[in-house]
Amino acid sequence: MEMRVRGPKAIRGEARVPGDKSISHRALILGALAHGETEIRGLSPARDVRSTEGCLRALGVEIRKEGGVVHVIGRGPEGLAPPKVLLDCGNSGTTMRLLCGILAGRPFESVLVGDESLSRRPMRRVAEPLRLMGARIQAREGEHPPLRVRGGRLRGIRYRLPVASAQVKSAVLLAGLQAEGETVVEEPAPSRDHTERMLAYLGAKLERDGLRVRLVPTELGARDITVPGDLSSAAFLMAAAAARPGAEVLIRGVGVNPTRTGFLEALREMGADVTLLNGHEVNGEPVADILVRGRELRGIELSGDIIPRMIDELPLVFVLATQAIGTTVVRGAEELRVKESDRIAAMGENLRRMGASVEEHPDGMSIRGPQRLRAVRLSGFRDHRVVMACAVAGLYAEGETVIGDAEWADVSFPGFFDLLEGLAHDR
Ligand code: S3P
Repeated sequence: MEMRVRGPKAIRGEARVPGDKSISHRALILGALAHGETEIRGLSPARDVRSTEGCLRALGVEIRKEGGVVHVIGRGPEGLAPPKVLLDCGNSGTTMRLLCGILAGRPFESVLVGDESLSRRPMRRVAEPLRLMGARIQAREGEHPPLRVRGGRLRGIRYRLPVASAQVKSAVLLAGLQAEGETVVEEPAPSRDHTERMLAYLGAKLERDGLRVRLVPTELGARDITVPGDLSSAAFLMAAAAARPGAEVLIRGVGVNPTRTGFLEALREMGADVTLLNGHEVNGEPVADILVRGRELRGIELSGDIIPRMIDELPLVFVLATQAIGTTVVRGAEELRVKESDRIAAMGENLRRMGASVEEHPDGMSIRGPQRLRAVRLSGFRDHRVVMACAVAGLYAEGETVIGDAEWADVSFPGFFDLLEGLAHDR
């Protein structure tokens, strides 16, 4: 499906975005592993989250929807039943890697499959630590899905992650929950910590010390969970306003966990006016309204620990860099090459089609701005974040930009194009 975006537009208004995708996956999964009934409010309607839900149902978990509330009946890890079907993770890396961690501790065999994109993504990073804990895992060519997981008795490990990945960290912790003895995971840089926060909220014995997490196997108690708005979705609306003097958007009820807020910091450093209002907390996660007022932006350099804290927002930095004065350099972001698409190549190609000159690096991109963007036909590369970043770029271009694969936005942000249209005004 194609979508058309006309620019330039004035961006103005107030919005709410769907529930956080990362927290939604975890709410369903930990709800299933807990003992008792979990009520989830604000669960994301994203396609990825439906993949997690479908897999859990295939493992015998009872999930009911009543009005806006999702009920998960948890019977502990032992309550999971051997699946009679392949576990279809769709496009969702989080579904596959987190489920791998759970299934590593279950005494039966499961096969996890994904779509074309997920079938190309690296899985050795999750299989390796789980094997060290005692699970048997087979992957195609040792690296790619389908994954055949034969779980069983696990022993806790001390493991240092080779890459900062919340998915791998979470998989090891979920296996650790079912293991004998404690598990210690250490990461090279802080990645999102929603799993740790939710485990602690549900009563797990978990200690954190800098980059290290220590978990002692514990039974989880069921507690209700409210999912805040997804900062990674809000980021598209923020970016649509940030580089446009006079623009103003207010996005209500967004999760602002500090392991996710790299993009807010980067925007501020570029000169955007970003204000957090009405800060509060729900089930251990900080939440706020985010007000962005557009400004003339300047280029910045990004590398190091901030990268994992804004990994999903980097396509937007590339777009904004074309509008900023001076050079923007992103390095240390090689993980972008193994997301739903190679996001460095995908954004590089689209920005070049728009007439921008960009320099790709193996681990990032350099862009000198400001550059005028041409409204042309762009490819979404069947990647939700590329599709939506292209729509934002289209709003900065003169004329009508056509974006292919637009339906892929539903992977994380159903309703994205309608919301964006509601904020875009002719004057
Ligand atoms: C996620 C972790 C990140 C992120 C992805 C969601 C999660 O992936 O890019 O969109 O929910 O744990 P990595 O763990 O591969 O860094």
